[in-house]
Amino acid sequence: MHLGTQKNDLLGLDGVDPDTLTALLDAAEARVPMAEGVEPAPATLAGRLVANFFFEDSTRTRCSFAAAAQRLGANVVNLAGEGSSMSKGETLADTARNIAAMGVDTIVMRHAASGAALLVARAVDIPVINAGDGRHEHPTQGLLDILTLRRRLGSIRGRTIGIVGDIANSRVARSALFGLTTLGAKVILVGPPTLVGAAFTRIGAGPAMVRVEHDLDAVLPELDAVMMLRIQLERAAGGAIAADYRQLYGLSPDRMERLPAHALVMHPGPLNRGIEIDSAVADHTSRSVILAQVAMGVAVRMAVLEWALRG
Ligand code: NCD
Repeated sequence: MHLGTQKNDLLGLDGVDPDTLTALLDAAEARVPMAEGVEPAPATLAGRLVANFFFEDSTRTRCSFAAAAQRLGANVVNLAGEGSSMSKGETLADTARNIAAMGVDTIVMRHAASGAALLVARAVDIPVINAGDGRHEHPTQGLLDILTLRRRLGSIRGRTIGIVGDIANSRVARSALFGLTTLGAKVILVGPPTLVGAAFTRIGAGPAMVRVEHDLDAVLPELDAVMMLRIQLERAAGGAIAADYRQLYGLSPDRMERLPAHALVMHPGPLNRGIEIDSAVADHTSRSVILAQVAMGVAVRMAVLEWALRG
């Protein structure tokens, strides 16, 4: 789609035009009853082989790509970092070329290095779907976040979405920011100055659509939804976290009450309960859409796999 490849790679939401985003969201919407198992799915990907290539831990993303592929009649082969020949010195590009040579139709990949999905996309002639590359992007997460919001709020344009926490190290925040602002939402990035710098207002649609704030309590009354993020300790964010993080940026029940009555609470998972979000908030029956996000993930991945493999 972009970034120098001619295939239907999905490497990020940066630069994806509003019509393409809307078409993917509409296709995902049509797949929701099938993703939920309420209606049978057509075997549009029968005989196709999806390689799930996960070099970083994953629960939701890996399982939901596999579920999406299998609902549509495709088969899934798995490769993890541990146990692969990369431990013997094989490069990522060579590993990907070998997997592609086995007749696999698409590679879904997650890797700790930003840019790893682009590197693989350039090495093989099959479509590559980025399932999270370092701090860079996580486009199917961005799509499932937007689909969840669109279904619950009715529209994206003109909405204000807060993203709170470790913005600096979050691929989830970047993909959400690009997708949401492209569709006309405003995004307020909230966190300590060590984790969200003023430079973030210069990415995506720019300062007209993106604001940086450090006072969560002041921002909450403006929001249609708030997305809480986990501190990315595996990306060395720990050193930047003050001991009073929870007190300043954790979503407690008291803080939740500062949100407008209709506002939604989101989190990509995995949750660190009692740090960025309290259990009473995460499990709140009317406000929290955290498990709805997971359900939308299967529908989004069905639509993305069909787009990548069938156009
Ligand atoms: C996120 C990820 O891996 O980027 N999880 C997910 O895919 N749902 C967020 C995180 O790990 O904090």
